[in-house]
Amino acid sequence: MQQKPAVLITGASTGIGAVYADRFARRGHPIVMVARDTERMQTLAARLRAETGVEIEILKADLNDPADVAKIETRLRDDPNLGVLVNNAGTALPGTFIEQSSDDVTRLIGLNVTALTRLASAVAPRFGRAGQGAIVNVASVVGLAPELGMTVYGATKAFVLFLSQGLHLELGPKGVYVQAVLPSGTRTEIWQHAGRDVNKIEGMMEVDELVDAALVGFDNRETVTIPTLPELEQWQQYDAARLVMLPNFRQEHAATRYRRKM
Ligand SMILES: NC(=O)c1ccc[n+]([C@@H]2O[C@H](COP(=O)([O-])OP(=O)(O)OC[C@H]3O[C@@H](n4cnc5c(N)ncnc54)[C@H](OP(=O)(O)O)[C@@H]3O)[C@@H](O)[C@H]2O)c1
Repeated sequence: MQQKPAVLITGASTGIGAVYADRFARRGHPIVMVARDTERMQTLAARLRAETGVEIEILKADLNDPADVAKIETRLRDDPNLGVLVNNAGTALPGTFIEQSSDDVTRLIGLNVTALTRLASAVAPRFGRAGQGAIVNVASVVGLAPELGMTVYGATKAFVLFLSQGLHLELGPKGVYVQAVLPSGTRTEIWQHAGRDVNKIEGMMEVDELVDAALVGFDNRETVTIPTLPELEQWQQYDAARLVMLPNFRQEHAATRYRRKM
């Protein structure tokens, strides 16, 4: 029997990434786990090897360190057995924009945007040539809602959504599947990093439910999966409203309201 493609998951030491590792291992895929905390990954890997029998590899990497990112890029470029990239590692910051330091904001963008884009960029040409492969990018509903008050975090997630939609248009015709997953509040440690007590926030989804729902979207080859949204039509209407504007962007002259009266 042909071996299933291996799945490289960033941020696999805990939270959403750890559950992705569990679910893909149970589906019989070899797993490559990427994160900084080796001990946690070893514990999870030992359990998954015992329970599923699949091969689990651990790559320690700080995705804010260019040398570590380069290591993962090389692996994604060169290993023909890697058929799925789950770009999940991400973090959030406490405070408002004026309270956050430029260095912290730079690190947030480095992880949520730069590393994620570099890893997609490393693997996309190989997937394109092979005419197969999947890239899952974990974004967030915060990327659709500045009102939720996590401005830079939300901006990084808006980037991830846009990137995924663009990659879907570019790579879809070549046979590569690209999915953006937009979780809402999910019970993980990210809230601690954002300076919030997860137990004091209502409406948190459990992480297993989130990943299982995201995988239904994956199996259905959805481009955008919003697990909490009750009516898919709401997303479709939102996207359709955007598309209505497209033909109007290409104009030789400014709209009347922007023309000064002589
Ligand atoms: N939980 C939510 O409510 C929620 C909602 C919407 C979207 N999301 C998104 O879901 C993704 C996963 O978040 P989560 O909730 O599972 O968060 P989490 O529990 O804090 O896990 C984050 C993962 O990313 C890894 N990571 C953090 N910094 C890293 C770095 N510099 N280099 C390599 N790995 C790093 C962590 O591992 P190490 O510390 O071992 O490196 C950990 O495995 C993120 O992209 C997040 O933005 C989460």
